[in-house]
Amino acid sequence: MKITKICCIGAGYVGGPTMAVIAKKNPNIKVTIVDINEERIVAWNDEDLSKLPIYEPGLAEIVAETRGKNLFFSTEIDETIKESEMIFISVNTPTKTYGKGKGMAADLKYVELCARNIAEVSTTDKIVVEKSTLPVRTAQAIKSILHNTGKDVKFEILSNPEFLAEGTAIQDLLNPDRVLIGGESEDAIESLASVYGSWVPQERILRTNVWSSELSKLTANAFLAQRISSINAISELCEHTEANVNEVAKAIGMDSRIGPKFLNASIGFGGSCFQKDILNLVYIARSYNLNAVADYWEQVIILNDHQKRRFSDNLISTLYNTVSGKKIAMLGWAFKKDTNDTRESAAIYVADHLLNEQANIAVYDPKVNNKKVQADLNYLNTRSEEENNDLVKSYSDPYETSKDAHAIAIMTEWDEFKTYDWEKIYNQMKKPAFIFDGRNILDKTEMENIGFEYSSIGK
Ligand code: UDX
Ligand code: ADP
Repeated sequence: MKITKICCIGAGYVGGPTMAVIAKKNPNIKVTIVDINEERIVAWNDEDLSKLPIYEPGLAEIVAETRGKNLFFSTEIDETIKESEMIFISVNTPTKTYGKGKGMAADLKYVELCARNIAEVSTTDKIVVEKSTLPVRTAQAIKSILHNTGKDVKFEILSNPEFLAEGTAIQDLLNPDRVLIGGESEDAIESLASVYGSWVPQERILRTNVWSSELSKLTANAFLAQRISSINAISELCEHTEANVNEVAKAIGMDSRIGPKFLNASIGFGGSCFQKDILNLVYIARSYNLNAVADYWEQVIILNDHQKRRFSDNLISTLYNTVSGKKIAMLGWAFKKDTNDTRESAAIYVADHLLNEQANIAVYDPKVNNKKVQADLNYLNTRSEEENNDLVKSYSDPYETSKDAHAIAIMTEWDEFKTYDWEKIYNQMKKPAFIFDGRNILDKTEMENIGFEYSSIGK
């Protein structure tokens, strides 16, 4: 099928950047991103590119280049589905917060609603592409909804999982290691392959069956997260010995079979994918009664929770076992640098733990506002919204944030943190002034020379 119009349902971290790049590289295809969230669509259409709902290096430039030409943002979901030959589903698939599989399985209600919406309004044949990360065999559910419309419309379902990492999404999309397309119909697979073929070499476009494609996505994330939990486990051992985790990571990473990537010891991984995808894998394994397999992968999550808890426990015990009424400055709230995404960010859990000890928290993140910080804490439901609002304040300047603070906790590895006037920060803090570097981005000797009590992960 020749593709002239593409519809993407869901204008989020996956849909936005992916469609922007597809539009840029395929000027002859009209790409429309639709969303039920009107506020989001208005933001995507804002003249002021700094107001785009998603921050991602290089994204604003591509939107500026393509928006209004062949890239459009709209709330006209039905109309756009109707006119398009290919429809991407890029809606959110959060972990279920209720019922069977609570806390483990993916909540597929948004995906199902999309499938029903497509089934209802389509009058011509469509290729439906699942882009959201989905548990294995979701395509089956989408298929069964689409094939039971009673209409004379044919649907082909493809799985095309996203491997982009936030903060480097545009680079990852422009230069992917591989593009994975899973499907039954060769014609449908080739239609999508030709869209990517505009800029991705054919040998990097991998064709598989639907189930392999779905499982590959979960597995890739589980393997990456496993490396972080492995090095984080070693970071604790380093703290009890004379070993330095950066040196250990470098030494083992130089073995080309292991490789240097994903060996940065940290406060623990966050983001919308790793935890969710591993929980999914664990859930699927358990549902087949493969308990040893489930336990094995679950341990990656357990170690990650342990790492976050260990960081806040250490902070509290260092501050003489009490943080009650003390101002703790948190630098960074996003789950990693170069994104405004905060889903599953370690900062949320560390803050929550410190709030249980009645700390006063001051937050500064270059791309995350107070509304988001409050919403993240309220979502945990640990205390009332009023209490969160009382105890947690956000600032737009790191110097204000750290004024009169007892300690600074570095939660995100934003580059700008390294450029601060740390002496100025030191002078306005309570003494002794502590830094807990959850990302190992500052220099220990330099900080100690200024006067800080400095500690980092695994050193
Ligand atoms: C991840 C996968 O990398 C991507 O392929 C997939 O499509 C989606 O999930 P993302 O969540 O955007 O991408 O970020 P990633 O760079 O993988 O980092 C995840 C978390 O691990 C972050 O909190 C990051 O700070 C942490 N991390 C990463 C470490 O703590 N140490 C490392 O060495 C690498
Ligand atoms: P991701 O990281 O997977 O892109 P996001 O939460 O950033 O997740 O984006 C998902 C988007 O999908 C949200 O903007 C949400 O409003 C939108 N969405 C969810 N369900 C539907 C639906 N049935 N129709 C249209 N948009 C939807």
